[in-house]
Amino acid sequence: MAASKRVLLIISGGIAAYKCLELIRRLTDADIAVRCIMTKAAERFVTPLSVGALSRDTVYSDLFSLKDESEMGHIRLSREADLVVVAPATADIIAKMAAGLADDLATTTLVATDKPVLIAPAMNVAMWKHPATQRNIAQLREDGIALIGPETGELADGEYGTGRMSEPDAILQAIESRLGGPKVIGRDRFVGPGTALKGRRAIVTAGPTHEAIDPVRFIANRSSGKQGYAIAAALALAGAETILVTGPTDLAAPDGVTVVPVESARDMLAASTDSLPADIAICVAAVADWRVENETGAKLKKGATPPELKLIPNPDILAILAASRTRPALVIGFAAETERVVENAAEKRVRKGCDWMVANDVSPGTGTFGGDRNQVHLITADGAESWPSMSKTEVAEWLVARIVRTLGRKEDSTPGHGPTQIAGS
Ligand code: C5P
Repeated sequence: MAASKRVLLIISGGIAAYKCLELIRRLTDADIAVRCIMTKAAERFVTPLSVGALSRDTVYSDLFSLKDESEMGHIRLSREADLVVVAPATADIIAKMAAGLADDLATTTLVATDKPVLIAPAMNVAMWKHPATQRNIAQLREDGIALIGPETGELADGEYGTGRMSEPDAILQAIESRLGGPKVIGRDRFVGPGTALKGRRAIVTAGPTHEAIDPVRFIANRSSGKQGYAIAAALALAGAETILVTGPTDLAAPDGVTVVPVESARDMLAASTDSLPADIAICVAAVADWRVENETGAKLKKGATPPELKLIPNPDILAILAASRTRPALVIGFAAETERVVENAAEKRVRKGCDWMVANDVSPGTGTFGGDRNQVHLITADGAESWPSMSKTEVAEWLVARIVRTLGRKEDSTPGHGPTQIAGS
C-alpha cells in the first residue's frame, strides 16, 4: 500500500453500515489505506462489492474460507494495520468484544490484534441504554478501547435518542487524531492524542440547566450539550485532565473525561469552583439566566388561578471563574447571539472578564442549537476572526489547537507551571 497509514475497518451489521461507504471514501481521500472485514450481517446492509471498490482492496469476511485465510491470515490482518476501527459497532459485536468471543473473522481479528481499537457504536436507543450494553461499554473503556459517539438525534428506526452512529467526518477526525502525527487545522496544529496538553487541567461546562419550580416542574432550554461535550473530548484527546460539569443531556460521556452531572446553575457553579484550580475553563453551558425564587418543596396544586413565579438572577459562572482568586490561565466563554453577533460578544468578553469569547449566531434557521454544525467567531483582545462553518467536533479541535498554541507560548515565556493570567490574549 502506498498510503503512509493503514486502518483495518470492521463493518458489523447495522443500518448505519451504509455510512461506511462514505467513511472509506473519506479515508482514502485523506491518504489512509483501508482494508475491510465485513461480518455476515453487514453484508445484508452493504455489498462487499461496493466496499471492495471503494477501498480498492480485497474485502475479508470468512474465518474458514481457504481463500481469505490463505491470502491473509487473521493474525496478519489484525497486525498489519495501525488502527482497528469497528463501525458501525452493534450491540452484538460490542457484547462479543467485552466477553472476548472469537467466533468469526471480525471478532477473532479483534481478539488477535495488538493495535489500538476505536469503535463507533450504532443501535436503537433502548439497546444503547440497556444495562448489559452499558456494562459492556464500561468494560471496553477499561480495556483501553476508544469510542466515538453514539450521537443523539433521530435514529434510523424513527425513534429519537442516543444511538446514532457518528458522521463519517467525525469518525475520520477521530481516526486521524489516533493515527497521530500533527494534523494541520487552520493556522494551528491539533497535536495527536495524549501529548500537547499533558499536565494541564481543564474545566468545561456544558448543556442546559434545570431550574426547579417545584419537585416535578422545572425551567429548561434547548441546549443539547453537543458543543461542550465535543470540546471536553478534544481536550482529553490532547492529554488534558478534563472535568466536564454538565447539565442534563442525553449524551454519552466522552472518553477519558471526568463527568460531573448537575441540574441547576447553582449546582453547576459549585461543581465548577470545586474543580479549581485549573489551567483552562471553558463555559459552554447554556445556563438559565433566572431561577424561581419561590420554588416550593411540594408539588404546586392546580387551582383556579395559576401560581405566580418570581424569577431572580442566577450567578454568572463564567464571570465568577474569571474573577476567582485561582483564576485559570485561560478562561473562555461562548456567546449565543441573534444580532450584532461579533459586537455583542466582544462586549460580553470584556464585561465577563474572560480571555476569549466564541460567538455564534443561533437565530432560528441556522440550526446551531441542537444541530451538529456551527459557524463561530473567535474574539480575543486582538480582535475577531471568523471560522468557516464546520462540525461541532471540528470547532472543538480548532479551539483546542489554538489553546495548545497559546498555552505553549505562555509556557515558553513563563518559567514554572500552574494557573497564570494570560495578559492580552
Ligand atoms: O450572558 P450570556 O448568557 O450570553 O453569556 C454566555 C456565556 O456565559 C457562556 O459562556 C455561558 O456558559 C456563560 N454563563 C455562565 N453563567 C451564567 C450565564 C452565562 O457561565 N449564569
